[in-house]
Amino acid sequence: MAPIDPHSFTDSTHPLTTHIALTLYFHFSSSTIHATALLTLQNPCTGPLSLDTRSLVIHKILDPETLTPLPFTLSSSEHPINGRHLTVSLNNHSSMLILYSTSPSSSALQWLSPPQTFKKIHPFVYTQCQSVHARSVFPCQDTPAARVCYSAKLNVPRQLSAVMSARHCGHRDPVGSDLDGVLTKEATEFGFDLKSLWCEEGRVVEEFVMEQPIPPYLFAFAVGELGFREVGPRTRVYSEAVDGVLDAAAREFAGTEEMMRQAEGLFGEYDWERFDLLVLPPSFPYGGMENPRMVFLTPTVIKGDASGAQVVAHELAHSWTGNLITNKNNEHFWLNEGFTTYAERRIVEVVQGEDIAALNVGIGWRGLNEEMERFKDNMEFTKLKNNQEGVDPDDMYSQVPYEKGFQFLWRIERQIGRPAFDEFLKKYIATFKFKSIDTETFLDFLKANIPGIEKEIDLQQWTEGTGIPPDAQEPVSNLYTKIMSLANDFKLGRMPREDEVCDWKGQEWELYLENLSKAVEASQVIALDARYRLSESKDYEVKVAFLQLAISSRCRDYYGEVEKTLKEVGRMKYLRPLYSGLVQGAGKDEEKILAKRVFAEARECYHPIAQGVVEAILAKHV
Ligand code: BES
Ligand code: ZN
Repeated sequence: MAPIDPHSFTDSTHPLTTHIALTLYFHFSSSTIHATALLTLQNPCTGPLSLDTRSLVIHKILDPETLTPLPFTLSSSEHPINGRHLTVSLNNHSSMLILYSTSPSSSALQWLSPPQTFKKIHPFVYTQCQSVHARSVFPCQDTPAARVCYSAKLNVPRQLSAVMSARHCGHRDPVGSDLDGVLTKEATEFGFDLKSLWCEEGRVVEEFVMEQPIPPYLFAFAVGELGFREVGPRTRVYSEAVDGVLDAAAREFAGTEEMMRQAEGLFGEYDWERFDLLVLPPSFPYGGMENPRMVFLTPTVIKGDASGAQVVAHELAHSWTGNLITNKNNEHFWLNEGFTTYAERRIVEVVQGEDIAALNVGIGWRGLNEEMERFKDNMEFTKLKNNQEGVDPDDMYSQVPYEKGFQFLWRIERQIGRPAFDEFLKKYIATFKFKSIDTETFLDFLKANIPGIEKEIDLQQWTEGTGIPPDAQEPVSNLYTKIMSLANDFKLGRMPREDEVCDWKGQEWELYLENLSKAVEASQVIALDARYRLSESKDYEVKVAFLQLAISSRCRDYYGEVEKTLKEVGRMKYLRPLYSGLVQGAGKDEEKILAKRVFAEARECYHPIAQGVVEAILAKHV
C-alpha cells in the first residue's frame, strides 16, 4: 500500500479512475439517493482496487460487460476522518458498476424539508464535497490527485429541477434503459425494484456531463424548486424560485461579466464556458464554493451594496487557481487558497479600487495574526505546507493557507515587480492547467522561471516554516492606516465621530471592529452600538464581528442577538467564532449552557459538516 493522500485510501500502485457515469434516484421522503456508479479506469487492473466511501450502503458490484458480480469488502469500522475503505477484486477489468445507496447521514448532503426552505412547499437537497465528502455521495478515489470526467442522470420529482457543476444536456421523461446494465434482479437488490421506481409517473430525468477532468471535491448538485435570472452572457443566477431573492441576487451580481473580463486579462481565457451562480439556503456552510461552471453561494453575500462581489471574485479566481491547477492533496491546500486570495484581490483592485483591496489585505492580516494565537500550541498548522496525517481538514480549517499564501505571493510580486509577476502567473497557469500539483512542483517552477529568487526570498521558511515570516507586511493605504488608528483610539475611550465614519461600508467596519482590543468594557461596547447600531447590521460580517466583541466583553445584553444569529445562518465563518467565543475561557458556565442549548435547537438546520465542526468546538471546551 502506497498512500498518496493522508485523507484517502487511494493506492498509488492502482490505476486511477478517469470517468464516472452516475444514475441518481432522489428519494426525498427517506433522505437517500439510490444510485449506480460506473467507474472506468486508466488501464485494466487485476487484484484489489481501493476506493473511498462514507455512509454508503454498497449493494453489489458488477462486471459491466457480463453483469457477473465482483467480490468486494467494506472495512467494518468507519475511520472518523477518511470513512470506509472499499476494496473491489478485479480480474483484468477496466471498469466496474457499483449499485449503492447513500444514507441520511451522508456528510456532503444537506436534505432540507419543505419548512426549512423559503417557499416551504418543496424539499431541497444540495452537496458540499470539499474537502473529503464526495465519497459520501459516490464511491471514488476521493483525492484531488485523481481527476475525473463524469456524466450524471438525476431522477427527481417533476416539480423540482436539478443543477450541477457540469453542462446540462437533457430534461426528459425517465426510461428503463437509463439503468442499462442493471438487471431487474439486481435492481431489487436495493430492497425494491429500482427500475419501476425510476420510471414512475411524476418523475423527470435531468442529464449532465463534465468533460473536463476535475478533482472529486468539485462534484456538485442541488435539487429543489429553482428559478433563475440572466445576469450576463455567460452567467445566470439561480436560487429557490422566489422573485425577491432572485431579483436581489441579480442586482448584487450584475457586475459579474465585467469581473470575468478583468480576470481573463490577468490570468488567461476562462476555460469553463459558463459561470453560473447558485444562491443556496442560509444553512450553506461556506461563503462560497468554487464548483466549476456553477459557483455555490451563501445568501448572506446578498447585502444590496455589491460587496458580495468580493466572494464572487474569490470563487471566480478559483476557475484558474484551484480548478485548473489543483492541490495534489490537502497538505498543499495553500496552492488553492493562497493563489486564489491573491487573484481575488487583483480582481477587487480593478473593479472596486485599491483602497478596498487594501482593506481586504488588512482584514486578512488581522485574521492571520489571530490564527498564530489560535495555533500557538500546534505550530504545524501555521505552515503553508503541513502534515495532515490524522487531521480532519474541516476542524483545522483556518486563514493560514489563504493569508500566509497570499503574503508569500505578494512578497514575490514585490521582489520582481508586478509586470514580471503577472507574466509568471500566466505561464504557471498555462503550464499546469488540468493538473494536480504539490508545493515542490510550484517551487521548482518558480526557481526555473525567476532565476536567483531563492537568494532573495527564503522560500523554505515561507513554505515549511512556522509563524509569519519577517518579510510579510501590512497593507500600505491611507484609509487602512486611518481605520487602524481609530481602532487604537477606542482603547483610550474615544469612539469614532459621525463625520469620520459617514462613508464607511461593511469592510471598513469589519476592519475597525476586528482590531478593537478584546478587553474593552461592556459599557463601551454598548455605547458604540447605541451610536452605530452594529448589532442590527444587515451585513453579517459586521454583525458577527460586533457580536464577537460583545461576547468577549461578556456583554449579556447581546446574547439574544447571538442566539438569533446562530439560528438563522449556517455559514461556518460565523458559527465558529460565535460558538468558540461563548465556550472558550474559564468561568463561563452561563455561556457554555447557552451554547449547548442553542446548538441543540439549531443543529438540525445546519449542514452535516457544520454540525461536525460545532460538535468539535463544544467537545473541546464543554
Ligand atoms: N473552497 C473554499 C471553501 C472551502 C474550503 C470548502 C475548504 C471546503 C473546505 C472557497 O473558495 C472559499 O474559500 N470560500 C470563502 C470565501 C472567501 C474567502 C471570500 C468562504 O467561504 O468564506
Ligand atoms: Zn477559496
